[in-house]
Order: sequence, then structure tokens, then C-alpha cells
Amino acid sequence: MLIHSASQLLTLAGGPQRGKALGSLGIIEDGAVLVRDGKISAVGDSKELLASSPYEPRLDACGCVVLPGFVDPHTHIVWAGDRAAEFEMKMGGAKYLDILAAGGGIISTVRKTRAASIETLMDETRPRLARMFAHGTTTAEAKTGYGLESETELRMLQAILALDAAGPLELAATFLGAHAIPPEYKGNPQGYTDLLCAEMLPFICQWWGSQPSLAGRPLPFVDVFCETGAFDLAQSRQILTRAAELGFPLKLHADEFDNLGGASLGVELGAVSADHLVKTSAADIRALAGSDTVAVSLPCTPFGLAESEYTPAQQIIASGGLLALASDCNPGTAWCESMQFVIALACRALKLTPAQAIAAATINAAHAIRRSQTVGSLEPGKQADLLILSVPDYRQLGYRFGTNLVKQVLKRGRVYTVEAGASPSENGSL
Ligand code: NIG
Ligand code: FE
Repeated sequence: MLIHSASQLLTLAGGPQRGKALGSLGIIEDGAVLVRDGKISAVGDSKELLASSPYEPRLDACGCVVLPGFVDPHTHIVWAGDRAAEFEMKMGGAKYLDILAAGGGIISTVRKTRAASIETLMDETRPRLARMFAHGTTTAEAKTGYGLESETELRMLQAILALDAAGPLELAATFLGAHAIPPEYKGNPQGYTDLLCAEMLPFICQWWGSQPSLAGRPLPFVDVFCETGAFDLAQSRQILTRAAELGFPLKLHADEFDNLGGASLGVELGAVSADHLVKTSAADIRALAGSDTVAVSLPCTPFGLAESEYTPAQQIIASGGLLALASDCNPGTAWCESMQFVIALACRALKLTPAQAIAAATINAAHAIRRSQTVGSLEPGKQADLLILSVPDYRQLGYRFGTNLVKQVLKRGRVYTVEAGASPSENGSL
């Protein structure tokens, strides 16, 4: 199929964009993409590709923007229940970490998730994934972390894998058994840290290796919430070091509320990404800048908590770091399913240009889950994951918010049309 007549085709070609190179969109005016067997086989000028592929089925982009599907590299998308009552408390002045310490917050979602079957978890998650997809996210990371014991953590992992297999939104799994201290270990974080290292991580590793359907697939990421009231720096180091020994690639939640040195720890241990990065110090920024650890900013989290401090993105860019954006979609701090909103917020709160925010939400976000070889840009050989917007100028992303600008989504070459205000349906199925 030939997608042609894009006013602006944003290729994002050339790999992850570090420091001041962030925002290189690789724009082709009146652009076209040739898709074969779910992959991109050529990218170029519409007139040339129309002439060289005259018998190809065509999809007219009608003078609108075409760009890679968004990659959302940090979500907690699988959970049961909601926390609307806590939102009301927080808007009345209650603090997130105080609610957590009192047995609410993450722990209240843990109670509901432990009680939910895999079918319930999948039923509650599917509509969220459908809305993410309708808003242009074609690949996302998804974390466990609302079980905090092996059985429920495994059930969450199985839900993520089953939802990924069902598609169309592609998921990269992360084991976040170290998301909070479970009620059974209240007051004994070291006891739970030791349990994670001695039993839970080896159990997940062994389970993954025993699944014929996962043969050849790399282990999931292992993530830790390095934070006051969760895991301190020494415990985070212990968990991540054990995970690395077992062969897991690493991520961590760092500097969301307090600076414990998590970002520098992530760099030291070769983590794929360090995420949140609000209270990040100059030394942490220097460490990130000289590394391949992607700095993932989640601006919906301070926004969702009505806080005023955001990731020091300008310093990260100025010092040469790799910056990506994610939604952090979760029931506690940021129930946001739209990377378009993340981009709009990043422009205002992180002072990114629309071009920088788009690169941070596509090619750099793909690198934050180590999938930049297959998704995140429009280049021959990559998956045909792309969006056709309803607008002719890419700067409408960022400028506008609260309206879905995605008209059509292609995932591995299959076309899904987004009905205004509805979930997408595969062409022909409506
Ligand atoms: O990234 N910080 C820890 N985890 C999530 C919140 C999860 C929750 O509150 O349920 C976050 O903000
Ligand atoms: Fe998170």
C-alpha cells in the first residue's frame, strides 16, 4: 500500500536524538510511504513513489501530517478499580506519600488487583489500551507492580503478555515487584527487598524461561520505585544488581518526590532508562548526559498531582542527555491515555518545542524501551506503525490539546480508522 500526499511526512530518521539534536523531524513535504508485509519499504516524495508504484493500492493522506506512531515508554496500564476518592482528598490538600504511608495509594490498588482474576484485569485494561491506540500510541511499556507477591505479579505479567498478543497495541513488559512495600512487610522494607532478590526475581526469570511461547524473547525490564517510603538507594541497588545478575534489563523510578540519587544509580548500573526525574540534581544530569540511559520525563505526574515542579528538561538537553516522554498512565497520579496531551504539556511545562516533544515521544521513547530498531521512525525495514493526523502542520501537536488529532492509525501496516470520539475499528469491521 502507498500512503501518499502527506503535507508533511515526519520520518524522524537517523536514530535516537541526543541533546541539542532533539527535534530533528526529517520532514518530507508532499511525502509518501510504501508499506509491504507490515513493514516500510520506501519513504519519499509522493510524485516519485506514485510514478514508481503505479499499481499499488493507495491511501490518500489528503494533505495531512503523517508521522510515526507514538511510543509510550512508561505506563502502569494494568490495574483494577480506581482512586477517584483519593484524587478528591489530594485536591483537598492530602499528600501522595502520606496517603501511601497510611495504607492507601498504591496499596489500595494492590488490594483490588490481588482480588481480580486475569480476565477482570484484562477486561478493565482493554478499553484503556483502545483509547491509547485511538490517540496514536502504537507501542507502550506496561508494568506489573500492583501485586507485590509472586502470584499476582505473575498474573499481571500474563495479562500484559496476553494483551500484547491480542494487539493491535504492542506492549513491552516490565516487572515492578519493587513498586511499594506490601502490607505484609509494613515497617520491614529490607525484608521485602530480600524476598524480591531471593525468591521473586528468580521465580519470574525461571517462569519466563519455561514458556515455549516466549522462547527467544528477551527478559522483561525490572524496575524499582527508588523513593522515600518505598525503596531507599541501597535497597534499589540490591534489587537492580540482583536483576542484572539474572539477565534482566533495568529501569527505575527516580527523583519523583525526593532525590535519593536514583538517576546516578541507574547510570552506574547501565539502566535502559531513569524515569520521572523531577528532583534531579546537577550531578545526576551530568551522569545521564554521558550515558545511554534515557531520561524519561512524565509531565502528567506533577500535573496530575497539581504540583508545580517538572523535569529540568532544558538542562538535560543542554548537557547532551537523551530525553524521552511518557504518560505514566496509572490510577494514582496520572490517568492519561494520550501522548498528544503529554506533548502539549511538555511544550508548556518543560519548554520543549513541538518538534522536540514529538521526537521525545517517538524515536527517543522507542529507545527508552530498546525498540528503536523496529519502531519510532519511518525508515525502510521498520514496522509500518504510523499516524495520519487530521491537520496539515505538525505544530498543531503541542499547540492544541484535549482534542484527538489522529484520524487513522496504521499498526504493522493494518489500517484503523478513528471515529470522532470513539475507539478505532479496523477498516471493514464496522
Ligand atoms: O509512577 N511512583 C510510583 N508509581 C506511579 C504511581 C502509581 C500509583 O499511584 O498507583 C508513578 O507515579
Ligand atoms: Fe511510574
